[in-house]
Formats: sequence, C-alpha cells, structure tokens
Amino acid sequence: MVISKTPYEQGAEATRIDMTAYATRLDRSNPIRLAVVGAGRMGRRHIAAAGQAAGVELVAVCDPVPGAAEAAAPPGVATAPGLDALGEPVDAVVIAAPTPFHTSLAEQAIGMGFDVLSEKPVGFDAVAIERLGERAAGAGRVLAVGFWRRTAWPYVEARRLVAEGAIGTPTFLRSSQWDADLPPLAFADPEVSGGVEVDCGVHEADLARWFLGCEIAQVSATGTPGALAEVGDAETCAALAVTTAGQAVAIDLGRTCGYDDDVRTEILGPGGALLIDARGRGGLRHGDRYGLRDVPGPDGDVLELALAAQLERFAEACRGAEPHATATDAARALEAGQAMRRSRLAGGAVQILGSHGNREPV
Ligand SMILES: NC(=O)c1ccc[n+]([C@@H]2O[C@H](COP(=O)([O-])OP(=O)(O)OC[C@H]3O[C@@H](n4cnc5c(N)ncnc54)[C@H](O)[C@@H]3O)[C@@H](O)[C@H]2O)c1
Repeated sequence: MVISKTPYEQGAEATRIDMTAYATRLDRSNPIRLAVVGAGRMGRRHIAAAGQAAGVELVAVCDPVPGAAEAAAPPGVATAPGLDALGEPVDAVVIAAPTPFHTSLAEQAIGMGFDVLSEKPVGFDAVAIERLGERAAGAGRVLAVGFWRRTAWPYVEARRLVAEGAIGTPTFLRSSQWDADLPPLAFADPEVSGGVEVDCGVHEADLARWFLGCEIAQVSATGTPGALAEVGDAETCAALAVTTAGQAVAIDLGRTCGYDDDVRTEILGPGGALLIDARGRGGLRHGDRYGLRDVPGPDGDVLELALAAQLERFAEACRGAEPHATATDAARALEAGQAMRRSRLAGGAVQILGSHGNREPV
C-alpha cells in the first residue's frame, strides 16, 4: 500500500494532504484527473492512452514550447506551459518531458500534492531516484514509472505462467529492443538520453529483474557506435549479465532495424520457454515437451493497450494499490543500464553488486 495510513491516522502531519483531493482519489465514481507534462512523441501516446483507460480523465496538457500543448491536447482539454500555470484541478501527472527534466518535474509535482507517473529513465542518479520515491511515500503520494512492458498483455501473461511454474524456475532471459530509426542526435546525446544502454536498456534490465526475481549483479557489454559516435552514443549494444542467483541475461539493443520498433523477450527454464513479441498485435508462445503453441491475447496494438493498462494501474495506485513499477525498480534498472554503458566504453565486466549483495561503489 502506498497510502499506509489514513490522513486521520497520520495526525497533524496529514494537514499536508489535501483532504478533498484525498477523498476524490478514493471515490471510484470520480476519475483521476490527469495532466500530461511534455507533449512530444511519448506524451502524445499517453494522451491517446488516456482516452482508452478506465478511471482517468485527461484534464490538462503542459509543454513549454509555444503551441506544442495546444497541438496535442484533445478538444476541451486545458493547456499550460508548465505545472505552475495549471488552471485546472489535477490529481496526478504523467511526465513525458525529456529525461533530464524528469526528477525535478516529479519533485515539483509531488510538492504540489500530485501523484506521478514518470517516463523512464526517471533520472541519471539512482540514489536521487530512490530519495524521490521516499519523498513521494512520505507525502502520501505515488511515484510510478513508465515500464510499460509490465502492463503489456504478453508480458503479463508470461509472468503469470512463470509464477504458475509453467517453465520451472527461469534460468535464462534474452531481451531485444530494436528501434526502427536512429533518434535525432540531440536526443541520443548521452547527456540527454543517458546513452542507448540507459535510454533503451532500462526496459530490458527491468524485465530481467521482474521475471527472474533477482538483481543484476554483473554485466559486460560491447557495441557499435556507428552514426551516433559523433555524440558519444552507439547504434547497437550487446550485453551479457548475471543475476545474484546466477541466472544468465542477454540484452541486445539496436537503433536501425528500419521496419518498426521491435521488442522481443525469451525466458527459458528447465521445463520450457516463453517467447514474447511486443510488436503490432503482440504475441506469446509457450514451449515445452508437448510443443510450441500460441497463447491467445486481445486484439489491438500491444503498445497502445499496454499504455492504457498502465494508466489504469496508475489510477489504482493513486487509490492505494501498489504501483506496477516503483522508484526502486527505476533505480535498479538505471544502475544496470549505466553499468552496461561503462562496460561498453571501458571494456571488461562491471560489478553492480558484490558477492554479499552489497552495492559496489560507482
Ligand atoms: N517508455 C517508453 O517506451 C518510451 C518511449 C519513448 C520515449 N520515452 C521517454 O519519454 C520521454 C520523452 O521522449 P519523447 O521521445 O517523447 O521526446 P520528445 O522530444 O518527442 O518530447 C518531449 C516534449 O517535452 C517538452 N518539454 C521540454 N521541456 C519540458 C519541460 N520542462 N516540461 C514539460 N515539457 C517539456 C518538449 O517541448 C517536447 O514536446 C523521454 O524521457 C524518453 O526516454 C519512453
């Protein structure tokens, strides 16, 4: 539970929580009033998802670039250059601004009494991200993270099958994220994106933790700078990692596949395998000694459905349920992504956790 005590139980300190907003959040007949902050590529996807998600109502779009919020906001939705200029009552915000602004925008939103769903990466400093999570919890607010694979049907179903023991205890996870096209150089710049290992790799590191139930202890990586050499990033990265339980993880990232953004994940155990495809309608195959068969899923675009489901999970978290992904999840995935990057640049394996599970100094 994110809200572990009612405002009354929290005593005098609870006056920091707006009682009307608190009651509004708990009343399921009221949707969570949402502002999307950052009306670019991902912000527009969240705006579209809000139209499909139960339990939320998009009431505002913020973007400091003149005309950007107005171009992205559906009719009737308010616009503003920033959170401090919001004219509408809001319960929660989705942060889809460029990554370097996430931590400060989340701090601002929490300070204003809003629950927060931040796009990944939440920042470039794992300690600061954890502190932000603590600050949110201390204020009785949610800080959830945009790891949408956790709400995409093939991943949700595969994790349910793993939990049921369908493939035994997983021993190996392989995950690919290949983007269709190179991002603009200004976006790829590691000062802005964190580098491909952070920008993209946090998703795959998060999946490894989520499916394998362990932390990534060590990673080594290599890659091809290609056209992104000029800004100090790489077109591709291939990483091998090992978890604290000794499970193997292989991650490959690419920025140039051309046909689509293509995300695939495979999980192997002693009793079989689960093969996930998160492109288009998405797919899941379950293999074991009886063969390889399709697991049925819903119609519709897997990413669009996942983003709507993510907002629904976020709305539930605003009402007291566990968020689908937390600040701690963001911090651990970030550490793994940054370790991949250090390994690719410097060579050799990078230790994240020591043999006793202690965090290695970075
Ligand atoms: N979860 C995913 O799979 C996924 C996919 C793509 C992007 N992202 C993340 O979403 C974020 C945005 O990426 P994008 O591709 O949409 O970028 P983008 O450049 O297309 O959009 C960013 C928008 O934020 C606006 N902006 C700039 N400064 C701002 C501020 N201080 N406050 C509010 N808005 C501000 C810009 O004007 C722009 O409209 C990044 O952090 C990226 O890592 C996540």
